[in-house]
Amino acid sequence: MSELAFEGLDQLRLRRSAKWKAFAPDVIPAWVAEMDFAMAPPIAQALHAAIDRSDTGYAWPQAVGDALAVFGATRWGWLLDPADVIPVADVLTGVGHTLIAVTEPGEAVVINSPVYPPFFTTVVNVAHRTVIDVPLIWNGARHGLDLEGLAREFARPEVTAYLMCTPQNPTGQVFSKADLECVAELASQHGVLVVADEIHAPMAYPGVEFWPYLAVSADRPAVSVISASKAWNIAGLKCAQIVTNNADLTARLRQRIPQEVQHGAGHLGALAAVVAYTEGQPWLDSLVAHLSSQAELLSELLAMHLPLIRFERPMASYLAWFDCRAMDLGQDPAVFFLEHARVALNSGPTFGPSGTGFVRLNFATSPEILTEIITRMGTALR
Ligand SMILES: Cc1ncc(COP(=O)(O)O)c(C=O)c1O
Repeated sequence: MSELAFEGLDQLRLRRSAKWKAFAPDVIPAWVAEMDFAMAPPIAQALHAAIDRSDTGYAWPQAVGDALAVFGATRWGWLLDPADVIPVADVLTGVGHTLIAVTEPGEAVVINSPVYPPFFTTVVNVAHRTVIDVPLIWNGARHGLDLEGLAREFARPEVTAYLMCTPQNPTGQVFSKADLECVAELASQHGVLVVADEIHAPMAYPGVEFWPYLAVSADRPAVSVISASKAWNIAGLKCAQIVTNNADLTARLRQRIPQEVQHGAGHLGALAAVVAYTEGQPWLDSLVAHLSSQAELLSELLAMHLPLIRFERPMASYLAWFDCRAMDLGQDPAVFFLEHARVALNSGPTFGPSGTGFVRLNFATSPEILTEIITRMGTALR
């Protein structure tokens, strides 16, 4: 039986979060990565109980590492040491401060576009390092890693870190174990430290094999930054985790990351993360089954209403990367769809140069709302 409860547009419009406040009431928001489902009941109960006991002080985040270790082991067979878990407020804070701690001024960080836009700004404006882009390669059906490009750029002396998005945002791709092993080998050969943003990892679809990077790179020091925030829709509660597979690396991060950052996790976020990781798997299973069937529905709806959009079937999470170039809607088709369909999407060009002519759609909603979104977009083109 599905544990997932959909909310209708009237209910959703009562929310005060970014997704629902940024646009006029006649716009259906399908942009920022928030989901339209009712909160997982065990998390809602834990939060209500915390409020009832006025338990709103500072986080005591040790329990988060233990809970993540339980989740990592049961979900993926990933054996991590809770002593190597550093809770922080959110994934981007974790990524930015990890990069500052493990690289030096003048060094460069490799990323792969198209990618979550703050990857560029976090490297440049937060960590003050240079970005080197090794774009993903399109093989006719999917985007994948350019392993030759990575080998070439890793060989540059200034490259000391690789910020990898796994599963990938915006394409929804999950990298194979063989690809991750190859990355680990190249990183070790060239002395590059891999920082894997695994925020979308719990949402790999049924039948898709997801490998946590640290489980692949077991004997080579590396970092994962992960959170329950996307998969259980609790980003506003603020709790993410930096994880390493090496005590020396953990010690270095603990020493170099400012204390206020290491105490930045929210108490309600930490409570919610513990419940998500330890009691939230039945709800998560319902979620990923639904997301996978939404991806199926999306493909059918596109064939019917928007056949010129090239759609890459995601393997995880709820983001779809649409190539709109055959429709001649300019560099940023999100502008057209907002104006003429009253649907808010993310602008492709913000994901890097290869995003020109693309949009990103968030389909973490009900089949009815997804149908309305695609129908509106199709009608706008007639
Ligand atoms: C790949 C990726 N990393 C980080 C974030 C932001 O996470 P946080 O709010 O924990 O910083 C997102 C949000 O959608 C994301 O998709």
